[in-house]
Amino acid sequence: MNTGSLPLDLADRMIENVVGSFPVPLGVAVNFLINDRDFLIPMAIEEPSVVAAASYAAKMAREGGGFRTNSTASVMIGQIQTVGMSDPYAAKVRVMQAKTEILKKANDQDPLLVSLGGGAEDLETKVIHTSEGPMLITHLLVDCKDVMGANAVNTMAEAVAPIIERLTGGRVYLRIISNLATKRLARAWCLVPRDAVGGEEVVDGIVKASAFAAEDPYRAATHNKGILNGIIGVVVATCNDHRAIEAGAHAFAARNGRYTTLSTWERSDKGDLVGSIELPMAVGTIGGAVRTHPIAKISLKILRVETARELGEVLAAVGLAQNLGALRALAHEGIQRGHMSLHARNIAVAAGAKGQLIDQVAEEMVQEKKIRMDRAKELIQKHRLAGKSETRGNE
Ligand code: MEV
Repeated sequence: MNTGSLPLDLADRMIENVVGSFPVPLGVAVNFLINDRDFLIPMAIEEPSVVAAASYAAKMAREGGGFRTNSTASVMIGQIQTVGMSDPYAAKVRVMQAKTEILKKANDQDPLLVSLGGGAEDLETKVIHTSEGPMLITHLLVDCKDVMGANAVNTMAEAVAPIIERLTGGRVYLRIISNLATKRLARAWCLVPRDAVGGEEVVDGIVKASAFAAEDPYRAATHNKGILNGIIGVVVATCNDHRAIEAGAHAFAARNGRYTTLSTWERSDKGDLVGSIELPMAVGTIGGAVRTHPIAKISLKILRVETARELGEVLAAVGLAQNLGALRALAHEGIQRGHMSLHARNIAVAAGAKGQLIDQVAEEMVQEKKIRMDRAKELIQKHRLAGKSETRGNE
């Protein structure tokens, strides 16, 4: 069986009940200048226009010096849920008092991570009041360095649970990483010269689009989806856990009690466009499938990033670029013009066009502004008949 680039025996070791592999287009976005270094950005995504829009936006940002980024350390949170204590607040203090013992037990689970300068580094505790009574929630803060960290954190959380039960007199249930990775944030910003983005009116439109999304969760969800279009493309191309990134991004966007945007677009004092973004970024450059999947290895080579923090910062810049590409199109000509020609090609393929006929039919549908399956089928039929009568005429 042809499984593409992922050998079946490898796939079989990655998940259960494997019957094949599932290819998605891999594109490379260009023009990215991040912290004065040029980057090529591999993206695995099925949606037309995303790679083109990211490249176009990166070109605009490049005219203002590209993207600047920074990040926190790679600290993930492991949660330990304890229930059934008569004195949850005193139990909380007892757990904090045993911090050294708990951190040591956690770090004993992963000497390699500790030798690389990572490991469990702090504890936080809180009492929450639930429909099932008070619970003590302990947060184990683990610097995961270059791994995403779910395995390391979950192992540590499970290992320290008996100590917490002993200290609290309660019963531990859940011991699991949190995807709301508020201590592992990546940030990016850029200044796009007014003329590069299309003039004052376009700047105005983008700033107003950003303000709209900041206040309205219906728009914020779509605004953030546009950001994730770019980020998830790279996350998938590097075989990182995109569900973790999505969950973290949306939870972070709602962290103040109301869902809002992950990015903001403002006007500089000179009337240029300034964009910024901050979001959790639980990605790794080692561990998991990142270093086993052949395409993920190639993607990392294309990116030329060594550390998880570097990768996270590139992802933040890609998200901001993707957002800029979408907002510029929305505030200017609308997204459908660019989107539709690729969409038309997909429709043409789905209707049965092959080879040159794909572009021909797609172009005609775009010209007619009738990008529909029934029209694609009619056009294919028309061209096939024309082709046949031409052949007959030549006989
Ligand atoms: C489509 O995949 C993404 C957009 O809807 C994002 C946005 O509206 O900002 C274009």
